[in-house]
Amino acid sequence: MRLEDYAEFEDGGRVFRIRRPDTPAPWINYIGNGRLMGLVSNVGGGYTYWVCPRDSRITRHRYNSLPWDRPGRYLYIRNEQGEYWSPTWQPVPMDLEGYACRHAPGWTDIESAHDGIHCSVRYFVPREHDVELWRVRIRNLGGRPRKLGITAYVEFVLGHGLVDLINQPNDQHFNTTEWDSESQILLATKNYWVQYRSATVAQPNQAWDREVFFATSLLVSAFDSHKETFIGRWRSESNPVGVETGRLAGSLITAGDACGALQSDLELSPDETREFIVMLGVVPKGDRDAVAEIVRAYRQPDNVSAALGDVEGWWDWYLDAVKVETPDTPSNIMLNYWAKKQTWTTYTAARSAGYYHGGLLFGSGVRDSAQDLLGPLMADRAMAEVKILNILRHQFADGSTLHNWFPLTDEGEKTGHSDTPLWIPLAISSYIRETGDMEYLDRRVKWQDGGEDSVREHLVRSIDYTLYHKMSPRHLPLFGPGDWNDTLDYVGRKGVGESIWVAEFLCWGLRETADLLRRAGDEEKAAEYDAWYGTVAGALNTLAWDGEWYVRGFRDDGGVIGSRTNTEGRIFLNAQSWAVISGIAPPDRAELCMQRAYEMCGTERGPKILSPAYRTLDPGIGLATRCVPGKKENGAIFNHPAAWAVLAEAMLGNGDRAFEYYSQTNPINKASDPDIYQMEPYVYSEYVTSDEHPTFGQASHSWLTGSAVWMYRAALDWILGVRPDYDGLVVSPSLPSAWAEARVTRRFRGCLYDIRIINTRRAPGGVARLSVNGTCHEGTLPAGSPDERFSVECEIV
Ligand code: GLC
Repeated sequence: MRLEDYAEFEDGGRVFRIRRPDTPAPWINYIGNGRLMGLVSNVGGGYTYWVCPRDSRITRHRYNSLPWDRPGRYLYIRNEQGEYWSPTWQPVPMDLEGYACRHAPGWTDIESAHDGIHCSVRYFVPREHDVELWRVRIRNLGGRPRKLGITAYVEFVLGHGLVDLINQPNDQHFNTTEWDSESQILLATKNYWVQYRSATVAQPNQAWDREVFFATSLLVSAFDSHKETFIGRWRSESNPVGVETGRLAGSLITAGDACGALQSDLELSPDETREFIVMLGVVPKGDRDAVAEIVRAYRQPDNVSAALGDVEGWWDWYLDAVKVETPDTPSNIMLNYWAKKQTWTTYTAARSAGYYHGGLLFGSGVRDSAQDLLGPLMADRAMAEVKILNILRHQFADGSTLHNWFPLTDEGEKTGHSDTPLWIPLAISSYIRETGDMEYLDRRVKWQDGGEDSVREHLVRSIDYTLYHKMSPRHLPLFGPGDWNDTLDYVGRKGVGESIWVAEFLCWGLRETADLLRRAGDEEKAAEYDAWYGTVAGALNTLAWDGEWYVRGFRDDGGVIGSRTNTEGRIFLNAQSWAVISGIAPPDRAELCMQRAYEMCGTERGPKILSPAYRTLDPGIGLATRCVPGKKENGAIFNHPAAWAVLAEAMLGNGDRAFEYYSQTNPINKASDPDIYQMEPYVYSEYVTSDEHPTFGQASHSWLTGSAVWMYRAALDWILGVRPDYDGLVVSPSLPSAWAEARVTRRFRGCLYDIRIINTRRAPGGVARLSVNGTCHEGTLPAGSPDERFSVECEIV
């Protein structure tokens, strides 16, 4: 089936409407306020957590379960004859009329009709309170009065998600539930909160510090909180005994598997519509006043509408920071809505809480976070600021960093990946380019191992750590246990191998930081970095140039990877694109290596991370060679490097090539056959299987990927060419020749720039002739007073 058979975009692309429930995979959305977060699938599946999906998980997700996507946030409607169904299709799948799921940036809405009853459920989380709201509207379509039973259901974890997965039979002994009959609120918590990751009995002597509440605005006629009692023996969510018999048992537990099931009777006269609210929230343990206040508030429909309006308003504001109009609709949809929603999601959920990232092992990464913040930065400077300070807190005084950390325990791991500290210059320079706030360099931040220093000091030590502790005698960075590519994990473990990509990335950081330090008046350090740039760039062009492209690295045993002398993994995309992005490649080499990458890595669905894929297991390279050819880092169309290829081509002025890559990898285009593509058509997946595997075109690991932010910034900053510099906004597009015109409106340092680009030349290259408010202009766009609006015309001639 084609994409149109499954779904379509509405509201100019802001809303993705799915019109049949049996999608090739659960097509999900994220709702949340950054603290309470929920993943919601198109059929009501998904889970909820508070701040950290490992340590503070509220509801369960059964990984690898059959049927998939269980459990979820479920509603059951039971009619007068005892027949029951789920208005979200799952978990009682049957033919429903008028099924539709709408995913939008701030909410998900699922509607359907059955037996003369129309029901729509809107799931969202208010910005102010940590409570998930299900706003249910139920309508009697028929001409006779109806008496329905309504049951709302969730399955609880109450604490540590990983322990729940591996040790639930023991962990459940600490669950307790309570029914507050006066307020009609179900409460649940756990008396033991395991927090250490390793298998150890030396656990902290503590209870989970949260309490969950589950309530509805309807009068509750019966409840259950013991899962087995509600579901019944040898049954599942598809046929819970509580719903089948219409009798919930009022079960409470002091040990056992906990759930929340609230049953209400609902009478509807002909054509009547009723609205009610289901609430699933979390408060600090024991804070019953907060529970009472939140439940009281959201039992009022007006407050629910106001909270929804507030969420919508925030998303308007967030999305409006930058808007584009191009001749290509899929680009517009991604750039105006979904790539931005996705970057908010990667910022918030890191590589942690997904359907494909279990949320149990990795926490937040320094590397990923430093990239993810480039999305929210354009709309919400404070979001970026918080994230940068968080990253810097996890840096040691010698400049090295933890690789990742868990938001609640703050514990992390120092893995020694050679790229990790080097993402700090990207985060800081991007922040200052956007805000112009040079004083940010003076902010004080603690080191992970004690003491504190300025942001400037954190910045230079992140570079100095590599320069003065992690370089080979040949002036190339040591590979270590991996770099950006986690699967090249045995190239340099013995401390000899060298990473060419890190060398290029280091050069990018040196150039960027030298520029920044010079502006801050630190000429001496800037000159030191200039000199290092020359040294490393020299080493790269002498040692890493392979004749037609740059190699990817040198191994501990002296061998090379990504070279014409290899039969597998001959060329790596990143080593070419970053030779361009870092500026180390002389112009002829830059063009040639990108051309070779195009020829050797290109497929009709986008460029591969490397080519050809490894077919021989090589313990001197590592995990990449253990993946099947064509998937993951072994030769898939990995969208993150694909985004850097877009960037590099646009930097070279090759707008057509840049857009070709951008367009090929745009999920809306890629998912034209969803039965092959499978993942959500509105967000990037980590990778798409390449032509080296029989499942060519199948995507995997949707949502949590750094490619979202890089695809977004590469298209906006370099194809459309509207990008921040320290002195102001630059307009220097690299448009595809097919585009006659494009428009970008961008908030920047308090002003609004309305930029119309006219592509008179319609060929690569050309110069941008600028006018601002009708007057010719050169250089960065002028700064203005708050809310000042500039009308900019940019003609490419
Ligand atoms: C995954 C990781 C990311 C890494 C990439 C390449 O996407 O989340 O940190 O850089 O794989 O290995």
